[in-house]
Amino acid sequence: MKNQITIAAAMVLGCAAAAHGADVTSPGGQITVHADVIDGVPTYSVDYKGKPIVKPSTLGFTLADGPDLMGGFKLTGTETSTFDETWQPVWGENANIRNHYNELLLTMDQPEHYRKMNLRFRVYDDGVGFRYEFPQKDNAMAYFIIKEENTQFAMTGDHTAWWIAGDYDTQEYDWTESRLSEIRPNMIGSISSNLSQTTFSPTGVQTSLQMKTDDGVYLNIHEAALVDYSCMHLNLDDKNMVFTSWLTPDAQGNKGHMQSPCHTPWRTLIISDDARDMLSSNLILNLNEPCKYADTSWIKPVKYVGVWWEMIAGGKQWSYTNDVPSVKLGETDYTKLKPHCNHPANNENVRRYIDFAADNGFDQVLVEGWNEGWEDWFGHSKDKVFDFVTPYPDFDVKALNDYAHSRGVKLMMHHETSGSARNYERHMAQAYKFMEDNGYNSVKSGYVGPILPRGEHHYGQWMVNHYLYAVTEAAKHHIMVNAHEAVRPTGLCRTYPNLIGNESARGTEYEAFAGNKPFHTTVLPFTRLQGGPMDYTPGIFEMDIKKLNPQSQGHCNSTLARQLALYVTMYSPLQMAADLPENYERFADAFQFIRDVAVDWDESRYLEAEPGRYVTAARKAKGTDNWFVGCTASEHGHKSNLSLNFLDPGRKYEAIIYADAPDAHYLTNPQAYVISRKTVTSKSKLKLTVAPGGGYAISIRPIK
Ligand code: NOJ
Ligand code: CA
Repeated sequence: MKNQITIAAAMVLGCAAAAHGADVTSPGGQITVHADVIDGVPTYSVDYKGKPIVKPSTLGFTLADGPDLMGGFKLTGTETSTFDETWQPVWGENANIRNHYNELLLTMDQPEHYRKMNLRFRVYDDGVGFRYEFPQKDNAMAYFIIKEENTQFAMTGDHTAWWIAGDYDTQEYDWTESRLSEIRPNMIGSISSNLSQTTFSPTGVQTSLQMKTDDGVYLNIHEAALVDYSCMHLNLDDKNMVFTSWLTPDAQGNKGHMQSPCHTPWRTLIISDDARDMLSSNLILNLNEPCKYADTSWIKPVKYVGVWWEMIAGGKQWSYTNDVPSVKLGETDYTKLKPHCNHPANNENVRRYIDFAADNGFDQVLVEGWNEGWEDWFGHSKDKVFDFVTPYPDFDVKALNDYAHSRGVKLMMHHETSGSARNYERHMAQAYKFMEDNGYNSVKSGYVGPILPRGEHHYGQWMVNHYLYAVTEAAKHHIMVNAHEAVRPTGLCRTYPNLIGNESARGTEYEAFAGNKPFHTTVLPFTRLQGGPMDYTPGIFEMDIKKLNPQSQGHCNSTLARQLALYVTMYSPLQMAADLPENYERFADAFQFIRDVAVDWDESRYLEAEPGRYVTAARKAKGTDNWFVGCTASEHGHKSNLSLNFLDPGRKYEAIIYADAPDAHYLTNPQAYVISRKTVTSKSKLKLTVAPGGGYAISIRPIK
């Protein structure tokens, strides 16, 4: 990732002896942070367009091993500076990203205990980031243990919020839209694949949290650059509408083990009165550090298919046999066991997928259930069930990789850890070496089930460190990582761009289990996607899951046209076409959009947006003049009136429009779509009607 610094003027305006707080305003002047130490307590507030958007809120920590950091502070100085650079991500929604902010640093002493703690605020045109910093010099806190971070976010009213329940181990929930005063844990509808529903408070929610004030201001709270720290939740005092941070505990109930010099992740506030700005914000990426890898030529966006939906929706098995009640790693000779007939990760079926991928321009084929251990994958021996290098007898690693490579396709590795990070770390070096030796360059990993070491949580500091360790170890072997059930992303893909995807939310797999709420994909871009791309696995063409598996209760709550739109509205450099090849063959004309759509972009525009209602995005494919447009709507449907003014003036294009048919409906008639062609220019306007739970997709290419 090259950094091209266009202007970078550092102006030190403050002085070491300042005794008063200070203001810092965004470059465009619409957002102002006031920060001060009031009666010994660090305090901040935020104004947007001259009105409060965060009321005075206090900052501090309780500690497990010493006096608290909640008061007794003296302000020793303030410094302000300005920063402006434009940088180029390895992959992304835009080829160039501007990082422009004004900064305020508050330095503070806690004289009674000879301690120092600083606060750094960065104020952008699209919001605010701030973090705590603990310098090493002259600071009596060399090591300290956080019992709780007590960062307040005092809201100005009973806003509308899009939220999921607080939980240390899963984010796989349906979203709820309600007033803040109505937040109550809503765990119904979550079949948590992490098997642990650890709600911590009746008014606790996860981030990223999207809100809207009655005055029409959108406010999002999340975090950026979560490294060596526990993931933050928010606990609401619903009498006063004040959120306070609530970190994920470790096995002892502590929340952070710190050694100075160190700092917390950034606490982020994205703010605008135009919902589209929430989606085009780069604040979280900008608050992360530049890329740490010198060579990134091996990192490439991936469009893939997989041996996956057959198990998730079709009721087939990851395991090779039913005969092994419990597996001890390396002690079972599988060739002596009877295979069951339902194991899709077999040579013949994988070849079928390789052919399908090659014939339709996909880069990779994911194969789950290829390796020994699934017979007892989250049972009593899960700490030693997988070694990640031993295939089942019906999966010929060399022959299948050779065949895939001969057809211009790669296989995608799968590492299910079943939550045993300890077992994964034990085997990681040989597992990544095995991948490199066999020509794999990407891995989908997973953390289903309670974490081992016992008592740790998916979102605690220990696991946060594990996920990043996996990413940096994988980089040494030029491997890209897509981790499921991992902590929610916080923009780390800027620094480590081989982190090409995460799940960390309720994905398409739930359409096969119980169905997602029809508004789901109009909320995710405002919430989960703020921190980084999601492996949402769209592209379901057969919504009636009973047709694949008579036992299933699942129904994909979307029209077919909306499934196409998701490749544009759910930005990710990693996109799966999740349905079975035979379902794509049934709807070959609609499948053409998935074949055509890009996975990397030079430019992105959000044309229409409202959380929980609709999202319409237009993106220009990297290195081309082709545009793709997608719109996804809630159960209320939507009417779009699009201006194509993003096209080059004076040029003619052909638009292929994949729209809901007039009688389409996500429940009763999801497969009704109409494909039409039109010549368009930058002056064209398109009127499109979206069905309940529907959407549309458009590909636009210049006419030669
Ligand atoms: C849950 C993941 O989300 C899913 O994609 C995967 O197939 C299973 N775990 C098995 O690893
Ligand atoms: Ca999952």
